[in-house]
Amino acid sequence: MGVMASNPCVAPRQASVVCCGLDNAGKSTILSHLCDDLPSVIHPTPGMALQHFIKYGVQWRVWDCSGTGASRGMWSLFYPHAAGVVFVVDASDRDRISCAKDELEALLLHPDFRKRHFSLLLMLNKMDLGENTMSAVEIETILRLKHLQVSQRNVDLHVQSCSAIKGTGIEEGFRWLADSMSSSG
Ligand code: GTP
Repeated sequence: MGVMASNPCVAPRQASVVCCGLDNAGKSTILSHLCDDLPSVIHPTPGMALQHFIKYGVQWRVWDCSGTGASRGMWSLFYPHAAGVVFVVDASDRDRISCAKDELEALLLHPDFRKRHFSLLLMLNKMDLGENTMSAVEIETILRLKHLQVSQRNVDLHVQSCSAIKGTGIEEGFRWLADSMSSSG
């Protein structure tokens, strides 16, 4: 089922989403586009910031989780309430791509997600950095996404390249997520 155009007479449906990924991946910068709130400087998120916005016929509630090592243990507090996950990867961060893989795997194997159906939007961010970035194919291989699609049929996955600085890929990714969560009820 597609996402309906906004109609002021119809209350938008609600969607709760948790936004995760390593620190500095660009989570808050991506969300700031959707909130139509573009501060000139985005600071590291302390713990978690709850964002609300209405976009693409959906009233979104998004937990923007800090990605610093010490805070990652808090992500799972929001898993039971989330119908969808946005996992942001910094495509220019070769040194920590294996750490991002470990965190993504831990999320996928968490008891709150292991057995139920959910939508996973994987945002490959900072693609504006050109030849300094890994390609989408390279990242998909490192993250073993083909294996994931075979082994975890409960996950509806979409991979979206983006640049939060330029604002590209964000609408496409979140429109897909809105559609995916709508289809799975
Ligand atoms: P934590 O709150 O620490 O978990 O980080 P975060 O994932 O929310 O990252 P944040 O949005 O704070 O961005 C981190 C830095 O990356 C900032 O300096 C952003 O300006 C920069 N950044 C974010 N997205 C992009 C992008 O698409 N391209 C480039 N070049 N820089 C980006």
